[in-house]
Amino acid sequence: MRYENVIFDLDGVLVSTDEYHYQAWKKIADEEGIYFDRAINNRLRGVSRMASLEIILERAEKNYTQAEKEELAQRKNRYYQELLGNLTTEDTLNGVRETLADLRKNSVHIAVGSSSKNTMRILKQVGLENAFDAIADGTEITHSKPNPEVFLLAAQKLGAKPANCLVVEDALAGVNAGCRAGMSVAGIGEAAKSPRITYAIRSVADLLSIVD
Ligand code: BG6
Ligand code: MG
Repeated sequence: MRYENVIFDLDGVLVSTDEYHYQAWKKIADEEGIYFDRAINNRLRGVSRMASLEIILERAEKNYTQAEKEELAQRKNRYYQELLGNLTTEDTLNGVRETLADLRKNSVHIAVGSSSKNTMRILKQVGLENAFDAIADGTEITHSKPNPEVFLLAAQKLGAKPANCLVVEDALAGVNAGCRAGMSVAGIGEAAKSPRITYAIRSVADLLSIVD
């Protein structure tokens, strides 16, 4: 085995929740009269809720107090969680279930490394809560991606050395986090274009040939 451990990002890699994040932030931006589009949304991928809000507020015409920012972040999370209510076991991305099962069959340890505080809820809703050897998420870290903290925590929970881990990411912030953690990175979607990745993949099913 070239890698004994694979650490998956959640949103946009395992589950198609990124559209829900976009819709919830778009509603907030519209309510507040702040310009927001999909290009700005791309900068929010992998980034924590509060850091995402700061990026959105770059276009705001007024200054928001800390209490107002917290209210906006909570409101966004309410809208997001309403949308998460639609998630079913059908909403894992292409090849995810089969690939996770095949990796485990080949004795590869698998983990989730996500900035999201909704990680457990999402995994339960798509029926993947017992599919991983370790889960590290936004509830356990101080610094979100591009800081490597969440991936280093996932590796620690797996009992793995960073050099023995392959990170799977769709976001540039996540690619940078994986690199800073000293891990190899497989990039999917937007992240596949980053010069910092080790492998470009089209779907998680491509991982089997990389790991083996
Ligand atoms: C990341 C998403 O996985 O989680 C970001 O890519 C999101 O878009 C971040 O902001 C935090 O998510 P949550 O669920 O804690 O608001
Ligand atoms: Mg992602």
